[in-house]
Amino acid sequence: MSKKKTYFITGGAGFIGSNYIHYLFEKYDVVKVINLDKLTYAGNPANLDDLKNNPDYIFVKGDICDAEVVGKIFQKYNPDFLVNFAAESHVDRSIGNPEDFIRTDMYGVYVLLEASKKFGIKRFIQISTDEVYGSIDKGSFTEESPLMPSNPYSASKSGGDRLAYSYFATYGLPVIITRASNNYGPYQYPEKLISLFVTNALEDKQLPLYGDGKNIRDWLYVKDHCEGIEFVLQNGKIGEVYNIAGGSEKENIEITGLILELLGKPESLIRYVDDRIGHDRRYSLDSTKLHKLGWQQEHPFEKAMQETVQWYVEHQDWWKPLKSGEYLEFYKKQYPEEMPLT
Ligand code: NAD
Ligand code: TYD
Repeated sequence: MSKKKTYFITGGAGFIGSNYIHYLFEKYDVVKVINLDKLTYAGNPANLDDLKNNPDYIFVKGDICDAEVVGKIFQKYNPDFLVNFAAESHVDRSIGNPEDFIRTDMYGVYVLLEASKKFGIKRFIQISTDEVYGSIDKGSFTEESPLMPSNPYSASKSGGDRLAYSYFATYGLPVIITRASNNYGPYQYPEKLISLFVTNALEDKQLPLYGDGKNIRDWLYVKDHCEGIEFVLQNGKIGEVYNIAGGSEKENIEITGLILELLGKPESLIRYVDDRIGHDRRYSLDSTKLHKLGWQQEHPFEKAMQETVQWYVEHQDWWKPLKSGEYLEFYKKQYPEEMPLT
């Protein structure tokens, strides 16, 4: 009997990684997944509770910077594919404390690449981000655009992105890099714009809108992102970068208004607060390269947003416990004495 296709997923207890693991088990009848996750504040094994009795899903609590644990996973499971989602992922946290970002988003990538080189891998997918390009006032970034990251998160992700490429260029490792735009959907830790604002609004708490609220992000439904990653893994050319755009550019104030409308909450919940330091004005991606390869997005923005908001309405038992403890400490530091978050 031939070996089951085996995916080594890192950071699979986080937002996109857990959606991707669900996606794999839905898409393939026969597949094995090893999920290595450090379980930082953003990692939540409850995201994958439905798989806990599945013998083809193996969870390993550990750090991608730990070469020993990474090596053991290679030796024991001989994975076909490695998809690296593990990262510190929140820009605001990177401004206050860049060290963990540099460690995980750069050094961690090095450890995974070294192990892949030593033990062999059919595809190494580095999940990068549109933020590596920096801000753009007009037009959209293609894969050829220069990288101009402007905060410690995007800079460390750029380091991981280019390091992964260097293992292709130098050692011939079968690396592919994806750069996606801002994701939204189920299981997003309630600290990013959409997950934070939906959950705050549900609790009748204020929505802290940075600056003039007119910064623009391009929104990608997480399920489209997962399909895009798998499409690239199966069809992409090694050594290449693929942008995965949402094709839905919106000002933050538009997103905020839509959330309030969908929840039937008043605009008085909006609170304009000081701008984020070094706040990128606009992100915009050109996905022509991926479309030419044959990928198409399947979920229209309005419907996917409705479903996302509904998911948070129906899963208060998932997000309410997350908005306490370490989360509150972080937000108290961000908004000392200003925001009634408890
Ligand atoms: P997330 O913060 O929700 O999840 C990150 C996961 O990585 C968590 O489960 C965490 O415990 C784990 N992790 C962190 N450090 C680790 C380490 N040293 N070893 C092992 N596990 C570790 O992030 P996300 O939003 O799901 O993002 C996943 C990936 O996608 C990241 O690489 C991010 O840069 C990229 N990305 C995110 C977006 C977005 O909008 N969220 C857009 C484009 C790209
Ligand atoms: P975020 O979800 O943190 O993603 P990123 O910074 O990686 O794009 O932020 C999306 C946009 O929303 C960004 O322009 C910052 C803004 N924002 C707010 O206005 N208030 C908030 O509380 C947060 C978290 C974000």
